[in-house]
Order: sequence, then structure tokens, then C-alpha cells
Amino acid sequence: MTNIVIIGAQWGDEGKGKIVDLLSERADVVVRFQGGNNAGHTLVVDGVTYKLSLLPSGIVRGKLSVVGNGVVVDPWALRDEMKRITDLGTKISPDVLKISDQATLILPLHRELDQMSEAAAGKGKIGTTGRGIGPAYQDKVARRAIRVGDLAEKESLEAKVDNLLLFHNALRKGWGQPEVDKADLMQTLDEIAEFILPYAIPAWKILSEQLKNGKSLLFEGAQATMLDNDFGTYPFVTSSNTIAGQAAVGSGVGMKDIDKVIGVVKAYTTRVGSGPFPTELFDADGDRIREVGREFGTVTGRPRRCGWFDAVLVRQAILVNGVQNLAVMKLDILDQFDEIKVCVGYEHKGKKLDYYPMQMNAQAEVRPVYETLPGWKSSTFGIREYDKLPENAKKYLARLEELLGVKIGMISTSPEREDTIIRIDPYEKK
Ligand code: IMO
Ligand code: MG
Repeated sequence: MTNIVIIGAQWGDEGKGKIVDLLSERADVVVRFQGGNNAGHTLVVDGVTYKLSLLPSGIVRGKLSVVGNGVVVDPWALRDEMKRITDLGTKISPDVLKISDQATLILPLHRELDQMSEAAAGKGKIGTTGRGIGPAYQDKVARRAIRVGDLAEKESLEAKVDNLLLFHNALRKGWGQPEVDKADLMQTLDEIAEFILPYAIPAWKILSEQLKNGKSLLFEGAQATMLDNDFGTYPFVTSSNTIAGQAAVGSGVGMKDIDKVIGVVKAYTTRVGSGPFPTELFDADGDRIREVGREFGTVTGRPRRCGWFDAVLVRQAILVNGVQNLAVMKLDILDQFDEIKVCVGYEHKGKKLDYYPMQMNAQAEVRPVYETLPGWKSSTFGIREYDKLPENAKKYLARLEELLGVKIGMISTSPEREDTIIRIDPYEKK
């Protein structure tokens, strides 16, 4: 068995869902270990498009699907998502879906706080997905969160709700918002408990049993390295650690049980929400990437910001995650460009930089240093063999490998799972 972690190495929306789906055929268990329903993972299976936010992508293939302790769970959003997915023909029961009883709940008050603080921040807003992700993680770290399993212990729940509201109602008063009524919240929790508790278990225990029985785990990262709370473009990041190390922390498996880390990137770069983006394009090339690549958010429908591939950022992502191989997605979107640029370094205040500085202004000010490569001007759409790629496409990929110091193991040429060139099979070599 081989246990693999899939992470995004840019700003999200790299196509992690497709890679997870592709590999999940040979995995026994798919595990989410951070984030929540801010993720938007799209899979196309037998011509049907599934858009998943919180459910692990393995659910569509009937794989044991685990939502780990590191995830923040909005049970109402989960219920809606489960309805959408079951309407498409997928069966979901407590036999296949397991939710960690230690996972933090996202409550309506978290969603409201997310939206309130974004509205109040005006121009300085993060551009969050408005799902309450940040406020829920804040409560977790502040030790006042309600966790999934708490719903099963009514005797202690009330005191927890008191403690939670002590903070939130003071805050809401300050924001000029109506206070949350305790009895109402208790009743809301009581209702949702019925829905979620059948799925709640000590997930770490299930995972350790699976490992003992020689099963293969696939860890499905959400968001991406540049949105990581430590390593991303702070403060324009999400509120969880998104890097591969979090797979162990957010699910309760040992580090020795993780065999492989695969980083997923697009052949170019996109970002949604605010924050620095050195290779962002504001010209016709950027519009073209957005149109051809259909770069609009899965979760919020927002147009994504588009730009060239940034080898400096991705190299940094490779290092902090310990990425062994990369999957390059959406190569076909670059098919018709005359020239393709790659950022190979930065300049800041007359100095050359080979890494992305951590200061907010410096991050916004660095100028990318580009290398220009010739385009291939022919369709790579649906190509499944490396040898069939146009020469210039191969040169582009080879140059990326050189700049990044890792091999590109997989290349995706359409949203369909079969349209993937597999040069290094993650299940074959350790
Ligand atoms: P997947 O898994 C792209 C971004 C938001 C915002 C910032 C903080 O589909 O790649 P949050 O709601 O998390 O507090 O928002 O993070 N963001 C994502 N961007 N893909 C995602 O997930 C994202 N999840 C959050 O746009 O800038
Ligand atoms: Mg997304």
C-alpha cells in the first residue's frame, strides 16, 4: 500500500479534484484533513460533473471517505451538498462517510461574522468565500468551538454554548448586530445533531485500523500552499495549514505513514480573492487564459485572476511540502499562445530575489523576471501520451522541471480523468 498526499502548490483551483479522482481508483480511503466547504473540487465521471466542497472526492466512487479532525464542518452545507450528490446517483451512508467527532463545527454565527468582517474591511478585505471558515478556526484555536462529537453530550453542550456566546454576543453587540439567542442555538444544534451524529466517529481510530489492514490512504488537500496560514501570502490566506504536513495533523495518522507528496499546479497561475500575485496579467493574454480556461470560481462564481506560471512560488511550495512529483493541469489552455512566459525570479528595490519575501508590501511590490518560451500553436486537448505532445510543449514542461527541481509525473489535457499523461505512477515507485 502507498499513502499519498495531494496538495495545491499555487493559490488553489489547480485541479486537485481530478488528480484525487484519478488516483482514488487505487486508494481504499480518501481523507480530507483541513479546510471546509471553501474548497470547490470538480470531477467529471462518465460525463457527469460533480462539484464537491466538503465531501472527500472519493465519495463519488464509493470509497471510504473520511472528514478529518482538521476540517471545519458546516453541517447544513454538508446536508445540501449530500443532497446534490445523491441526486446525481451517488449513494452516501454512514458506511462510506465518516466524520471526525473532533472536527470543529461551522455555525451560522461564523458565516455571519465572516461576511460582517469582510464587509467592514472594505478595500482591505481578504475576499473570503464567506463560508465562515476563518471565524470557525478562530474559535477552535481560542478553545471555545463546538465540535461534532459535542452534539452527543447534551450535559456539557450547554456550558459550551454559554462560553461561545459570551464571546460572540459581546462581539456582535460591538458590531451593532443582534445577539444570538441561546435557546434558539441550542434548538438548532439539537436538530442538526440528528443529521450529523450518525456519521461522527473517532476518525483517527478508523484510519489506524485501515493502515493496520494494509489499506491505501489518499489525502485530499484543499486550498493551496500560497493560501497556507503560515507559508502563504499572509494575511491574504485561508485560516488553516494547507501544506502536506497537515495531512498527519488533520487526520491523526503518523508521519511515517505518509509515503508520497504530489503537488498539483496549473500550467499557468490563477487566484481568487484579494492579495498579491506577481505574475498577474491585466491584458489580453490574461483575458484569454480566463476565457479559454473557464476561470470562474466553483464555489462563488467569481472570475479568477489569471497570470503566467511562477516558478519561484512553486519551487517554494515544493520545498515546504516536500513535493516529490508534480501534476501539471490544463496544459491545453496554453495551446494557442505565440509565446509563453515563466517567472524565474523577482526584483525588489533593485535587488534580485530567488524567493518570495514574507512582508506584505514587499510581496505586492516584487517584479517578476520572465523567461519567454515559444508556444506550440497546436491542440494538446485530450492527448494521453507524452510522445504525442508537440515539441514546444515538451520543452515548456522540461524547462519547468529544470526550474523546479522535481519531475512532472502527470500532465492533464482535459477535465476528463482519462485525458491524463502518466509519466510517473505514484503507486509504482515509493
Ligand atoms: P480549492 O480547494 C481557491 C481563498 C479565498 C480567499 C482566501 C480566504 O478549490 O482549491 P476563506 O473562505 O478560506 O477564508 O478565504 O482563500 N480560497 C480559495 N481559493 N481555491 C480554494 O479552494 C479556496 N479556498 C479558499 O478566495 O482569497
Ligand atoms: Mg476551488
